[in-house]
Amino acid sequence: MSLDDPRTIRLADYQPYSHLVERVELTFRLHPTATRVRAALHMAANPAARAGQDLRLDGEGLRLISCAIDGRAVQPILDATGLTLAVGVLPAQPFVLETEVEIAPEGNTALEGLYMSKGMYCTQCEAEGFRKITYYPDRPDVMARFHVRIESDLPVLLSNGNPVGQGAGWAEWDDPWPKPSYLFALVAGDLRAHPGDFTTMEGRAVSLNIWVRPGDEGRCAWGMEALKASMAWDERVYGRAYDLDVFNIVAVDDFNMGAMENKGLNIFNSKAVLASPETATDDDFARVEAIIAHEYFHNWTGNRITCRDWFQLCLKEGLTVFRDQQFSGDLRSHAVKRIEDVLMLRARQFREDGGPLAHPVRPDSFVEINNFYTATVYEKGAEVIGMLKRLVGDADYARALDLYFDRHDGQAATIEDWLKVFEDTTGRELSQFKRWYTEAGTPRLSVTEDWADGVFTLTFGQVNPPTPGQPQKAAKVIPVAVGLLNPNGDEVVPTMVLEVTEERQSFAFKGLATRPVASILRGFSAPVLLERVVPAAERAFLLAHDTDPFNRWEAGRSLAKEVLARMILDGAAPSADLLDGLRRIAFDEGLDPAFRALALRLPGEDDMAATLHAAGHVPDPARIYAARRALHLALAEHLGPRLPALEEACRVPGAFSPDAAAAGKRALRLASLSLLARLDGGAAARAAYRAADNMTESFGSLAILLDIGAGESELADFAAKWQQDRLVLEKWFAVQVSAAAPDKVADVVRKLTQRADFDWKNPNRFRAVIGALSGNHAGFHHASGEGYALLADWLITLDPKNPQTAARMSTAFESWPRYDADRQAMMRGALQRIMAAPGLSRDLSEMAGRMLG
Ligand code: PHE
Ligand code: ZN
Repeated sequence: MSLDDPRTIRLADYQPYSHLVERVELTFRLHPTATRVRAALHMAANPAARAGQDLRLDGEGLRLISCAIDGRAVQPILDATGLTLAVGVLPAQPFVLETEVEIAPEGNTALEGLYMSKGMYCTQCEAEGFRKITYYPDRPDVMARFHVRIESDLPVLLSNGNPVGQGAGWAEWDDPWPKPSYLFALVAGDLRAHPGDFTTMEGRAVSLNIWVRPGDEGRCAWGMEALKASMAWDERVYGRAYDLDVFNIVAVDDFNMGAMENKGLNIFNSKAVLASPETATDDDFARVEAIIAHEYFHNWTGNRITCRDWFQLCLKEGLTVFRDQQFSGDLRSHAVKRIEDVLMLRARQFREDGGPLAHPVRPDSFVEINNFYTATVYEKGAEVIGMLKRLVGDADYARALDLYFDRHDGQAATIEDWLKVFEDTTGRELSQFKRWYTEAGTPRLSVTEDWADGVFTLTFGQVNPPTPGQPQKAAKVIPVAVGLLNPNGDEVVPTMVLEVTEERQSFAFKGLATRPVASILRGFSAPVLLERVVPAAERAFLLAHDTDPFNRWEAGRSLAKEVLARMILDGAAPSADLLDGLRRIAFDEGLDPAFRALALRLPGEDDMAATLHAAGHVPDPARIYAARRALHLALAEHLGPRLPALEEACRVPGAFSPDAAAAGKRALRLASLSLLARLDGGAAARAAYRAADNMTESFGSLAILLDIGAGESELADFAAKWQQDRLVLEKWFAVQVSAAAPDKVADVVRKLTQRADFDWKNPNRFRAVIGALSGNHAGFHHASGEGYALLADWLITLDPKNPQTAARMSTAFESWPRYDADRQAMMRGALQRIMAAPGLSRDLSEMAGRMLG
């Protein structure tokens, strides 16, 4: 981390805020270029803080109109980041500080603070956006009750809490729950509601609404069902009920992230909430369900209990991701959900943890907090909670969570508070476990086995690699779920958790009649890189027989990676073990189709590059691309004659339903169509495209056609049909880039970015094209360096308008250390060019600086 950057903020420097804010009254007079914000802050000295401090309020880009204390005008000292009132002008007793400022939401392209999106007003305050709305102590440990008055001619005026009054041109909202400023929200626009209702277990009748722009009303039903399911689930599983009379969700087209959990007024990227069978794929439906749940669950894990400071971000995010993963598993399939989550974790978090951007789940310093909404904080943060639950057991986890809610409701808490709750509940000492929060890097866990005199011994070794700023690390506690199978596939030792706490440690299993086959790290019980030499035949055995579905899938995955690696490195032919094993899974009707589809998905190119790099090789993107396609073809030929029957068996009759069972069948159908396309030139996929009555199959077959270099007329047909639909058009943009051949990607991107409808200031559209560019591994890493140059150009263009999104997308360069000297030089050159751009944002300069090291 940029330890010597003068802008660095450190966890070690935390101090409580000088004052308490008991209550806030806000009045907004909305105007595109001259919005007036009046704020009355009811304040008192904070007894827990050092006495006699000046009053410091954050504020950026505000035009101060007036400032008064207890009704008497005062003259604060203004600077670029806020306002100071000297202690001398502050009353000794509680006082009211009133300010009025003017801001211009129309020109706000950073989408932070108050901004406009297609005629509607909208806010985004996490992490530090409230300071762009008014002068305020914009930090999460200052919690206050908010009363909001909005004045505007727009028909729908929303804020947090409960509605307490409205009339022509105004509305008032009152939030009874104290909250930090990052949870403030305001929306005003010409919006339509999709209504619903829910009665809590405490008997509170809650009216629910999903607010959308006219025309989108037909895409809200799924989100509403997901919201009700989330409310019921949190009551049933965590005993947590909703606590206001209304719950509003708003869909907005211009949004940097997926969604935001503002108290009682969640704001969603329209992509993360709108869904209909014609316009959304099964993956979209699942994602909408998960994000709705995630934001709703924040009401307790995030809002009722919030974070003391931004270093504690994982306190709310890791836990809330963990909860949304549990929810999706409960509603769908735990096995499939776990596999998908691990795929994601490895693709994004392991990649981050193994490169120059590695940081602990709880970082101890940052320059720009927006750069720490990362896979590590979110996904590894959730893994850490999964490990804790495994270590203490389900019953103690539930007791600990009850204590957490009990003890910390209404507070801004820390990771220390969180761990203390588990220590107090279980009597367990968690200082070693805490290293998962404070140390970066993915541990490498090696295993060897030994069989002698009826005793089977597993010996583990752990290595915790150095990461930026953390050269040395001690051993971690690693929960390793293990089961033993006998040679006919029966389980002789059911799943148990071994606690590896030393750098080297052995576990013996006695009283076995024959040498067992070990199934290690079941359910992916810890976020580690498992290093284990396993004969291909044993992997094939586990692929056929493992009773743990995750490890069954994992056996196929590891085998596929080993086979692919040999194809890439020494031009070997694909092994029969793998092809036979995958064929057995593909046609095994006793297995969940979704699981079969996942088993058929070959390791991605970036995954292979990381794997080869970890094994000491220099990955060649072109060879990886070619080998992966060769393996896909070989698999198609191996499954060949039976593919048409499989494809047909997976057609789902009747009206479209996005449920998990139907979605699983469609996924398997598309997997077989993709294989078939290598054999029939795309005939079956073309027929599927024509016959499709839902987006999953029409988009899925289009992608398959493009991937084999066909599909031109389908692409044109798709464009003609969806021209007016911004969300579907996103898919059209993205798929052309992801499916382009390595030497065509740059041209495709250039062509798409010249289109009038490439509205690059819209984060979704920018991501659709530029994000897909870095997602096309062989294209992005093409030897010409064009991919790198294009990405750098676009990041430099976007940065002045939207630094947050530019910074987030710059992580495409984090993998530079993996590649050959030429590519390293080109990637570093691109980063240096970014660094040299005049007026570079704090966001992007921190990222580029950390990547350059
Ligand atoms: N807190 C949001 C979530 O995890 C993410 C977010 C962060 C959204 C910052 C906007 C800005 O649900
Ligand atoms: Zn979240």
